[in-house]
Amino acid sequence: MALLEVKNLRVYFHTREGTVKAVDDVSFTLEKNETLCLVGESGCGKSVTALSIIGLISNPGKIESGQILFEGVDLVKLKKSELRKFRGTEISMIFQEPMTSLNPSLKVGFQIVELLLEHFNVSKTEAKNLAVEFLKKVKIPDAVGTYDKYPHQLSGGMRQRVMIAMALISKPSLLIADEPTTALDVTIQLQILELIRDLKNSLGTSVILITHDMGVVANLADKVAVMYAGKIVESGEVFEVFENPLHPYTVGLLGSIPKLDTPKNSRLISIPGNVPRLINPPKGCRFHERCSRKLEICEIAEPPEMTIGNSNHRIACWLYSDEFQGAVDTDERYGS
Ligand SMILES: Nc1ncnc2c1ncn2[C@@H]1O[C@H](COP(=O)(O)OP(=O)(O)O)[C@@H](O)[C@H]1O
Ligand SMILES: [Mg+2]
Repeated sequence: MALLEVKNLRVYFHTREGTVKAVDDVSFTLEKNETLCLVGESGCGKSVTALSIIGLISNPGKIESGQILFEGVDLVKLKKSELRKFRGTEISMIFQEPMTSLNPSLKVGFQIVELLLEHFNVSKTEAKNLAVEFLKKVKIPDAVGTYDKYPHQLSGGMRQRVMIAMALISKPSLLIADEPTTALDVTIQLQILELIRDLKNSLGTSVILITHDMGVVANLADKVAVMYAGKIVESGEVFEVFENPLHPYTVGLLGSIPKLDTPKNSRLISIPGNVPRLINPPKGCRFHERCSRKLEICEIAEPPEMTIGNSNHRIACWLYSDEFQGAVDTDERYGS
């Protein structure tokens, strides 16, 4: 059984301006010990997808339909109190800015111990020892000293390490990291990502890593799912998608990876235009307004989802549809 199976998930926000279709029929699977990267520009529904899995969608947001099967249990159907048993134990999440999840008025060690005492049957001494052990595991140089510090006494990178320790101390089966390094310096970013990768390997945790950095995906992911305007437009094993990106959006995102040998001032290729608002998303393919390979049908009908060969490589784009290919052949044959 897959660790996590998200099926036809729809999450809408009912706002005064209208219904924001933030996640609109999203499906994906995560196996044990796998890292899935969820990529796409800002506003494509990555965070909302993650928050749904951990049960943190609140008013005016609502899971409209779909299933989130975690080890076979549908999290969508659970009561709030039942969900809380999963959160922080079986499923943990780290966010972009650790200051928002750490209590600024409590010492780091105390916060970790509280967490352990709340969820596990351990003594205070055991909890304290475990806390220090995990501060060491996330490679905080002075673990004992850090235990007695307040969050504001630590650098951003150290705070994020503390958050990772807190997320992993319960040995969760699933860690969700939502742009965990965006707020950090480039060198620290790399260290944190390597740390997540090493801990994932040593603890056997599965990871969903949200990022808009395709370089990060190349380094860490087993699988990748590309989100655009509330939908997954392409997904598959990372080597397959990177070797043979098919969706024009994926091709655009890959074109914007900075290369080490690119001169500093040269402009990166980027996709013109912006992610549409999700109250009234474009008809047909949601990407058509920005797509350089747009066909007539792309403005009219939603592209069907297809699998490439007998791989896990999936794509939703008219360019690769048999139906469409058929239409071209017919037109050519009859010279119309
Ligand atoms: N609380 C909310 N109320 C209304 N709209 C929201 C709310 N949270 C997210 N959204 C909308 O949902 C869409 C997806 O957002 P999000 O998942 O945060 O994108 P990403 O993480 O990919 O940048 C966006 O259009 C965003 O404006
Ligand atoms: Mg986000």
